[in-house]
Amino acid sequence: MIAVLVLHGPNLNLLGQREPKVYGTMSLDEINQRLESLGRDMGLDVRTFQSNSEGELINRLHEAVNWERGVVFNPAGYTHTSVALRDAVAAISIPVVEVHMSNVQAREPFRQTSLIAPVCAGTIAGFGWYSYLLGLQALKTLIDE
Ligand code: DQA
Repeated sequence: MIAVLVLHGPNLNLLGQREPKVYGTMSLDEINQRLESLGRDMGLDVRTFQSNSEGELINRLHEAVNWERGVVFNPAGYTHTSVALRDAVAAISIPVVEVHMSNVQAREPFRQTSLIAPVCAGTIAGFGWYSYLLGLQALKTLIDE
């Protein structure tokens, strides 16, 4: 099994209750369970972590180099603001796939800029919780290359 990390940024702990018209009704626990189970079928040992704290996300990215072969990352609101998270992604030697549940390009102008995207292998957005699954598939392809 190939160990990979799915990293969730701020406010994603509220999935299911938070703006359900935008983010759907599935909780973060349900999404993580599906990713762990579907990941297993792909030969992936999916580890998940969520934090509302920029520093904790940065620390977990640094640690991923020692424990995981790649990261699927939804930086959530920090996508549009965090130079520090961008630097953390740029600093690590494993591939990072950026994902968003909503179609950020079709939303408010401030969501249309990602500070993280230029240092990621690629970005998937707009497919609800499937964005994470597509992100896992993309990451697996990159790792297998
Ligand atoms: C999000 C999009 C961000 O703009 C927003 O701040 C989020 C979630 C998404 O998954 O669609 O918290 O990353």
